[in-house]
Amino acid sequence: MILVKRILLIFTVIGFVTACTVKPSNEAEMDKFVDNLMSQMTLDEKIGQLNLLSMWFDTTGPRMSKGVEQKVKDGLVGGVFNFWTPKAVRKLQDMILTQTRLKIPLLVGYDVIHGHRTIYPIPFALAATWDIEMIERIAVAVADEASADGLQWTFSPMVDIARDPRWGRVSEGAGEDAFLGAEIAKAMVRGYEQGDLSKQNTLMACVKHFALYGAAEGGRDYNTTDMSRLRMYNEYLPPYEAAVKAGASTVMTSFNEIDGVPATGNRWLLTDLLRNQWGFDGFVVTDWTAIYEMEDHGVGDKAKVTELSINAGADMDMVSEYMIEELPALVKSGRVKEATVDAACRRILEAKYKLGLFADPYRGISDERAKSQIMSADKLALSKEAALKSFVLLKNDKQTLPLDASKKIAFIGPLVKNQRTLLGNWAAAGNWTKIMTVWDALESKYSNAKFLYAQGCHLVEDKYIRRMTDQGNGNVIDDRPAQQLIAEAVRTAGQADVIVAVLGEAYDMSGEAASRSNINLLDNQRDLLKALKATGKPVVLVLMNGRPLTLQWEDDNIDAILETWLPGTRGGEAIVDVLFGEANPSGKITMTFPRNVGQIPIYYNHKNSGRPFNNDSKFTVKYIDMENSPLYPFGYGLSYTQFDYSGVQLSDSTLAEGGSITASVTLTNSGDRAGEEIVQLYIRDLVGSITRPVKELKGFQRIALNAGESKQVTFSITPELLKFYNADLKWVAEPGNFLVFIGGNSDVKNNAKFTLK
Ligand code: BGC
Repeated sequence: MILVKRILLIFTVIGFVTACTVKPSNEAEMDKFVDNLMSQMTLDEKIGQLNLLSMWFDTTGPRMSKGVEQKVKDGLVGGVFNFWTPKAVRKLQDMILTQTRLKIPLLVGYDVIHGHRTIYPIPFALAATWDIEMIERIAVAVADEASADGLQWTFSPMVDIARDPRWGRVSEGAGEDAFLGAEIAKAMVRGYEQGDLSKQNTLMACVKHFALYGAAEGGRDYNTTDMSRLRMYNEYLPPYEAAVKAGASTVMTSFNEIDGVPATGNRWLLTDLLRNQWGFDGFVVTDWTAIYEMEDHGVGDKAKVTELSINAGADMDMVSEYMIEELPALVKSGRVKEATVDAACRRILEAKYKLGLFADPYRGISDERAKSQIMSADKLALSKEAALKSFVLLKNDKQTLPLDASKKIAFIGPLVKNQRTLLGNWAAAGNWTKIMTVWDALESKYSNAKFLYAQGCHLVEDKYIRRMTDQGNGNVIDDRPAQQLIAEAVRTAGQADVIVAVLGEAYDMSGEAASRSNINLLDNQRDLLKALKATGKPVVLVLMNGRPLTLQWEDDNIDAILETWLPGTRGGEAIVDVLFGEANPSGKITMTFPRNVGQIPIYYNHKNSGRPFNNDSKFTVKYIDMENSPLYPFGYGLSYTQFDYSGVQLSDSTLAEGGSITASVTLTNSGDRAGEEIVQLYIRDLVGSITRPVKELKGFQRIALNAGESKQVTFSITPELLKFYNADLKWVAEPGNFLVFIGGNSDVKNNAKFTLK
């Protein structure tokens, strides 16, 4: 019986494939194909294509998907997510092919945010590598692995600019800077889609969260956003635009409102800006239940918010099921034109066509391909390369690091032996139970060395955070009181020459719905550090966390601080390599680290104001109760070696329209080991028709130098690089004087001046 069914199925598929013999390349052919298909579709079938449901598990939000398989069979679903493996995807597409009238294959998506099964460092850590070429390679590898596991679509990249480290989702983005953010956004889109979705090892990208989601008031997730058009255009929108122009096939709406209208129902955003100004021709998917949530925003009842969203330009409804429930009546009453439903349906069918799904609904998945591509050696090696490049050395007094393995070293802290934290949040199908912890990596690498261990404290004791985070997954609390754990740790540390404390945030203290009002190390962890410091031995702090933390006390008291973020599948091994100097840290932070939360928002590219900060004068922009500078500025990070910069040389002191000049420095590795430096170019427009930031990142290069080696590093400056949106939202470069800075972080003073004619 099973055999008969299989044979019947094979015939159905062959018949289906020949009936629509398509080569997914030619637009005219695609139009013809889609026209023909749509001419056979009922209104309900078209609306079914707009429906996206969560298949295996519920993640977030006020409404969940139910009875998905039945709805698939009933032709009420255009795509599913939270779902993968060749077997499962094959089963679902078979259901479509055998049980639905028009046999339109499903889109299959998932939040493949920093890897699918091979997990790379969190996006915020990847940004800290400033290695665009590597980030693109990672996106290629991620697409290869995820597509081999049945996926066609990832809800990535997240390109939301964020200036508030209290917001937990900074872990998913590239940080505070639009220029760097745009470069990373483009690289990810290029890597996922490779300009040709008919290649079966690609994924459709989804640019999110459109728009301004990172600017939620107070850093509270899902909160209100409000900003001027000038700020939007100059400081927040560039990464979305860059990703769209790099060819991203889909865009996801954000939860926040913009100018009082929720993004999911905002026609200015989704149609005037995205489609008409930027020329986006893919489809727009809402975020999870974002249409449903418009009722709570207070812009209408169920029918009204559905009408608003589709008329604004949302094409696909994630989990609300409002489109499927409301659109038939809305079309009937004329509140939504059938042509609008047609346009949305067409965009989704076009995406399916471009993915080659009408030619092969399984998109080349096979157990063999999954076996050879998933967690392949090259992907695991890439994950380690990325981790090594992402670590940021925040402090290293008296060359405490790297460590000498012949010394007695005490590793203390709840993250020394913790697997789950290494993978971070949004770790897709990553299997944390199989990865090496820091301790495992130590033991496997230095089998003869004598390392000591004590847990020292519980990962999270704070009662509020415990209520909101996962208490399994390696974050188990036992009944040993804090004082006992600290006493044990101090005893262990007493036998060592050096102490390494591995501390930070549990994996789910950053990511969605993980805003914190206080971004210190947790009190119980700080208590442990204080006790370790009191031993008088050198202390190294290794941090794992998904956002900037306020580390004033640690910076004042701890000898060396290594920021390792949430470093992925090979993170434990990478940490050990860096601690013992087999690799030299080279990452640089992409978001300012404040001294305390009262300084937020704090970002390097701020305006000068009429009373710029001056330490010696009270009546300037400042707080009177603290050192006003950031603890670590944007772009900052140390190395085990030392890099020296010459003065900035310009090829000319004037730049003409249509021309270009170069700015260069000689970079010297004056230390005693090889290393890589991220050389950064900043420009200040001294006078503008609107006020201009004190500095803006305009270029960067990762330069590798051996000990004693020097190299000239050159950047080209064209008028294009000097453009900004003026008060009329025109993209212009204004004649006048500019300063060019080149250095190792945004606090650079080294500069030269030129004039744009
Ligand atoms: C998040 C999105 C994610 C979606 C689907 C939402 O809660 O905001 O970033 O892609 O869920 O899982």
